[in-house]
Amino acid sequence: MFASIILLLICIVFIVIQLKSRRPKNFPPGPPVWPILGNILDLSLENPLKDFERLRKTYGNVYSLFLGPKPVVVINEMKTIKEALVTKGVDFAGRPQDLLINDSSEREGLVMTDYGSSWKEQRRFALMNLRNFGMGKDSMEERIHGEIQYTVDTLEKSIGKSFSPQNMFHNAASNIICQVLFGKRFEYEDETIKTVVQCFTENAKIANGPWAMIYDSFPLIRSLPLPFRRAFKNVETCRKIAKSLMNEHKQTRVPGEPRDFVDCYLDRLDKPGDRSSFSEAQLTMYILDLHFAGTDTTSNTLLTGFLYLMNYPHVQERCQQEIDMVLEGKDQASSEDRNNMPYVQAVIHEFQRVANTVPLSIFHSTTKDTELNGYSIPKGTLIIPNLTSVLNEEGQWKFPNEFNPENFLNDQGEFVKPEAFMPFSAGPRMCLGEGLARMELFLFTVTLLRKFKFIWPEDAGEPDFTPVYGVTLTPKPYRMKVQLRVSQKIPH
Ligand code: HEM
Repeated sequence: MFASIILLLICIVFIVIQLKSRRPKNFPPGPPVWPILGNILDLSLENPLKDFERLRKTYGNVYSLFLGPKPVVVINEMKTIKEALVTKGVDFAGRPQDLLINDSSEREGLVMTDYGSSWKEQRRFALMNLRNFGMGKDSMEERIHGEIQYTVDTLEKSIGKSFSPQNMFHNAASNIICQVLFGKRFEYEDETIKTVVQCFTENAKIANGPWAMIYDSFPLIRSLPLPFRRAFKNVETCRKIAKSLMNEHKQTRVPGEPRDFVDCYLDRLDKPGDRSSFSEAQLTMYILDLHFAGTDTTSNTLLTGFLYLMNYPHVQERCQQEIDMVLEGKDQASSEDRNNMPYVQAVIHEFQRVANTVPLSIFHSTTKDTELNGYSIPKGTLIIPNLTSVLNEEGQWKFPNEFNPENFLNDQGEFVKPEAFMPFSAGPRMCLGEGLARMELFLFTVTLLRKFKFIWPEDAGEPDFTPVYGVTLTPKPYRMKVQLRVSQKIPH
């Protein structure tokens, strides 16, 4: 009996030591850590966003967790996230390198490349060439309008019917980035692009889902034939498609006369004796990164926006009045019209705030030993910037927990952008497609609202605004009805 009690005490002491000793000295606090499991039991594997919020309330804006043996620091609220990603930008500009998302992409591309000279070179190249191929310029606007016309056709064919807009917005956003990358668009029924979009949307859910969490927490099980293998298969499928598009380009290109982003990259590869980070393998993954980053984000934001517009008809009508007034006599909207449409601007920003499209940003990692809010964080620690905590932060928004364009309007009805509006994150790794995304969101919303009235179908029941969790948040599938507007004042 005595021996059993001693044994039990030893076990308890062992467990307590295990629970305590995992956190290095002055590491951010967090819930007790279980041997082997880490904190996996503290998080819902399906959707941990509520758990992250609960832990923030208990442990503060900088707290830690363990994914199996791996320490993770979650950073919350605007001031702290800005301190990390902007003030100490370089310290926090790394990317973790041992997650499912790294293994499935074979560590190529741009989005998951660690901080360093290769990433700098690749990012600079993307920014420069996206600009050359129209981002922020008139030609891009024309391309977006060209694509919107296909969306308008799709909507016109659906007048009076109730239909799902899911694929429509994904196809449109995909085609816009395809025109930048490959200089061409794909028909909405094209099997190639349907496959790519399908693989991406699936991987956006897998990469933050339960199987990724298990994969990331338990290295020993990584080679087992478990459902996370699907992510590898999807990347492989897309890689083959990207390669064949690249080969097509190689055959038809004229060196020195680039037609699009891929041609520019191939020109760059021609530079003799160049020992930079540019390579064909790198290009394949780069194309996929930009295509994914430019498709699933913008389209899910639009999907969320139209879900709200249908269910807040007075907001929709007020946008339409402003659009009709500002565009009177004009063929089409241009980005500059934004300045004369404070209400529409406020509504689109509010879409982005409530859509919370990339809720945990893309994971970062520390590039050196550093400090945040007085805690020590060693080099190589996985960092989760919880953007959700900023977009709903109490004290930063007039109405943090409801859809309300007043969040972006002052007492004079002028558009204002609070500092906590950071759906594109901040600092050196901030989204590099912000300009393109904002242009798309504006031109799509304005053009479609000018022409159509969007109606929540009578038989659709109560709307469910709760999104489906993933790297990107997606509204639950819904149906919409459209009517041509009678009051539109479009010439000819
Ligand atoms: C509404 C649309 C979009 C949202 C909300 C969004 C949001 C984000 C966020 C939160 C990040 C992570 C930043 C960080 O790690 O701190 C990111 C990164 C990135 N985004 Fe976007 N994005 C959008 C559209 C686009 C578009 C259209 C493109 C394509 C041109 C794009 C390309 C990228 C790339 C390449 C990165 C990685 C940057 C790097 O690691 O250096 N995004 N985006």
